[in-house]
Amino acid sequence: MEGLSWNAAAMATGSFKSLVRAPPQLSMAVSDYSAVTWSRSGGSHSIRAAIAAEKMPRAPLLGWNLPDVWRPRPNLPPCPALPERNLAVEPIAAVIDGKAIAQEIRGEIAGEVSRMRDAVGKVPGLAVVLVGARKDSETYVRSKKKACEEVGIKSLGIDLPEESTEDEVLRAVMMFNDDPSVHGVLVQLPLPQHICEEKILNAVSIDKDVDGFHPLNIGRLAMQGREPLFVPCTPKGCIELLIRSGIDMMGKRAVVIGRSNIVGAPAAMLLQRHNATVTIVHSYTKNAEDITREADIVISAVGVANLVRGDWLKPGAVVIDVGINPVEDPNSKRGYRLVGDVCYEEASRIVSAITPVPGGVGPMTIAMLLSNTLESAKRAYGLT
Ligand code: GUN
Repeated sequence: MEGLSWNAAAMATGSFKSLVRAPPQLSMAVSDYSAVTWSRSGGSHSIRAAIAAEKMPRAPLLGWNLPDVWRPRPNLPPCPALPERNLAVEPIAAVIDGKAIAQEIRGEIAGEVSRMRDAVGKVPGLAVVLVGARKDSETYVRSKKKACEEVGIKSLGIDLPEESTEDEVLRAVMMFNDDPSVHGVLVQLPLPQHICEEKILNAVSIDKDVDGFHPLNIGRLAMQGREPLFVPCTPKGCIELLIRSGIDMMGKRAVVIGRSNIVGAPAAMLLQRHNATVTIVHSYTKNAEDITREADIVISAVGVANLVRGDWLKPGAVVIDVGINPVEDPNSKRGYRLVGDVCYEEASRIVSAITPVPGGVGPMTIAMLLSNTLESAKRAYGLT
């Protein structure tokens, strides 16, 4: 019953009209679903009757694979736009300086790499597989390689054309899996549409899976008392920021906005492992603002500029903003600037600590990739 109501809510948004991977049962028009009455008086009997009469599909056990499409609140004034009396208040939030913390971590890693070279005559190696020519992916990969070189990690890579076949990508992954000088294999995402991401990520050797995306690593992360070999870099960076800033998670209410495989879902699992009480808010969540306003810790990872406004946040909360979103800015030389998912101007007058964008989570992601690669090499050479 609960699940059915949820599906009705999702259907009512009409957002999956254009769903590419709609399950076959969803070929009915959205209006057909909204015709189903969800009255309590009808109860489960009428719903079951509707299913039996094939007037509506039965929800699959694992739910529909619906895309997350965020709709900004209508008629929202641009950020920052709290009433003037609030903007007159000085920002009170401490800035969680991800750039400085990442730099500190990179210094620690450089020291360990140097000790490894002295002890066993080897250094860690990271291989990056890039498929296609997306500008953002090319930039990320360049930054990752540069960061490796700066701390003494050997960087390898292969750039494959957009039209590469799945087999060609798999062969590149296998080549690095088999190379003993490589301790980390990373396939830059997203892959071109014709390549099955799941197949490729499954092929990465679990003990070189420095992205932490292998199902075994994610599965272990999700289970109490199990140890993943690697934790995905961005959520690991978020937690490291909280730990190094002295922010206790035990027993706190945490809200993660966004449920992606790369950030939202693993961030929620990590917060839970730190004994926070975690709610995931996604694009089908009703009252996302009210739920978020309950949180002591908010991690936002949806990629929507300024989605989270000041009135979503509890006074004194801690905000980790994973979003890096370009917005037009005629005053900037590039014509745009980067902002987070959270309206910083408003939030910094309400919360107790917040990460800036840029300079917050971004630098931590790369630092965590270096950390995972070092960990992998230490494991390979039996160092502690
Ligand atoms: N694309 C965006 N973020 C990531 C990441 O953390 N790892 C990989 N491999 N691809 C990404």
